[in-house]
Amino acid sequence: MIIRPGQRIRGAIVLPGDKSISHRAAMIAALADGKSRISNYSTSADCATTLSCLQQLGVQIEREANTITIQGGGAHGLSASSEPLDCANSGTTMRLLSGILAGQDFTSTLSGDDSLRARPMQRIIEPLEMMGAHISSNDGRAPLKLHGQRSLKAIEYELLVASAQVKSCLLLAGLNAEGQTTVIENEATRDHTERMLRWFGVPTETGDAEREGENARFASVTGPAHFAAREVSIPGDISSAAYFIAAAALLPRSSLEITGVGVNPTRVLFPKQLRAMGLDVGVTAAREENNEPVGVVRVRGLDEPCLPGDLQSPFKVDGLAIPQLIDELPLLAVVGSQVQGGVEIRDAKELRVKESDRIATTAANLRAMGAQVEEFEDGLRVDGPTKLRGAGLDPHGDHRIAMAFTVAALLAEGETEINNDECVEVSFPEFFNLLNSIVER
Ligand code: S3P
Repeated sequence: MIIRPGQRIRGAIVLPGDKSISHRAAMIAALADGKSRISNYSTSADCATTLSCLQQLGVQIEREANTITIQGGGAHGLSASSEPLDCANSGTTMRLLSGILAGQDFTSTLSGDDSLRARPMQRIIEPLEMMGAHISSNDGRAPLKLHGQRSLKAIEYELLVASAQVKSCLLLAGLNAEGQTTVIENEATRDHTERMLRWFGVPTETGDAEREGENARFASVTGPAHFAAREVSIPGDISSAAYFIAAAALLPRSSLEITGVGVNPTRVLFPKQLRAMGLDVGVTAAREENNEPVGVVRVRGLDEPCLPGDLQSPFKVDGLAIPQLIDELPLLAVVGSQVQGGVEIRDAKELRVKESDRIATTAANLRAMGAQVEEFEDGLRVDGPTKLRGAGLDPHGDHRIAMAFTVAALLAEGETEINNDECVEVSFPEFFNLLNSIVER
C-alpha cells in the first residue's frame, strides 16, 4: 500500500462491530439454549475464525452480511471436531475457546498461524489444569491438545498477567464448574465477558477485591450455568476508531464524528490520553445496548500545523493505564512523535507477545521514518515533535502496526510504502477504503 500525506480529515462515520465483543457474543450464544441473533458482528478475520471454530464444534451458524444467527445447543451442545481447530492469528479465539473446551467431555486440538503458535499459552494452561482439564502443549505454546472434563472444579484465581483473555477464559470455564469461579485482577482489563454473561442471564458478580493494591477487582460466575438465547447488537469498534481519531486530531482543520461506537470505560483511555496531551477529542456515552455503553467520539484537528502543549518532558504512560490501552500503544507511540516532549511508555512488556513484538516493530518503523526512539525491555520513549519522513515499512504481519503506521504516513513528508498491508483484515478489512473516504490530500 502506498500512502501519500494527508491534508485533513472530514466526515462522519460509523464503524464495523467491536472485535472483542463479537467474539464473546458468538461463543456465549453457542452455549445458550435457542437461537441468538447478533447484529453488526465484526467483519474482522479474527471473528470469522471464531465462527468457523464453533462450526467445527457442531454449532449451526448462519451469516447474512453482518447479522449472524447462532443456534445454541446449551451447556453440552458442542461436539468434538475431528480436525484441529485453526485459530489462525486470533489469540482471543484460542484463549477464550480453550476455557469453553476445558468443560466439555472430549479432546480438542487448537492451533494457529506462526504468530499465534509463538504466543504464550501457559497463562491459561495452568489455571485450566487447576480446574481439572489436561492440556499438553509445545512448551507452553500452541498447538494445544486439550482434554476436557464435563464438570470442572470452581477455583479462585489471581491473574499473574493483566489479561482480559485469561480472565475471560476462566470465567467461560466457570460456566461448566460446580459453584463459584472467581478471577481476581490487580489491574483492571476490559470487562466485556462479564457484561455479556450478565446479558445472557448468567449469575455474574463483579466488584472491588480485598487486596493490598487499591485497584484490585474480582469477577465471578456460578456454574453450572444454563441460559437462554438473546439478541445482541455489537457497537462500533473503539480500537478501530483510534486510528481515525489520531489522524483527525493531528491533521490541521480536521473534523470527525464517529457515532454508534462502544465507549466502555475500560476501552476509552486512548481518546482520553489524546485529550490530556492537549488534542481536541471528546467522548460521550449516549445509551446502553446489551450492557455495553455506546456513544459518540468527536475530534477537531489542530488550528495550525503546530503541536500542542508545552511539555518539555515526555508524556508518560505506564502502570494501570497499560491494560486499558494495550492495543492502542503502537499508535500512541506514533502520536507521541508529534507532540512536544514526546511520549514514554513503560510497564508494557506484554507488547512483546502480541501479534508481533510490538515494542520492536513500533521502534523499527518509527526510526525508519526519522524519529528518535529509545527501546526498553518494557516499553519505549519516542522524542517529539519530529517531522516524519515517508519510508518503506514492514508491519511484520501485524494489523495494528500496519494501521498505526498508515496514520504516521498521513502525517509524514513524502510517500510511504507499507508491505503486506492485507494483514489489516485481521481486525479491520474496511480500513483503507474508509480512510480514503474521509481524508483530503
Ligand atoms: C483482548 C484482550 C487483549 C487485547 C486483544 C483482545 C480481548 O489481550 O490485546 O487484542 O478481546 O480480550 P490481553 O487481554 O491478553 O492483553
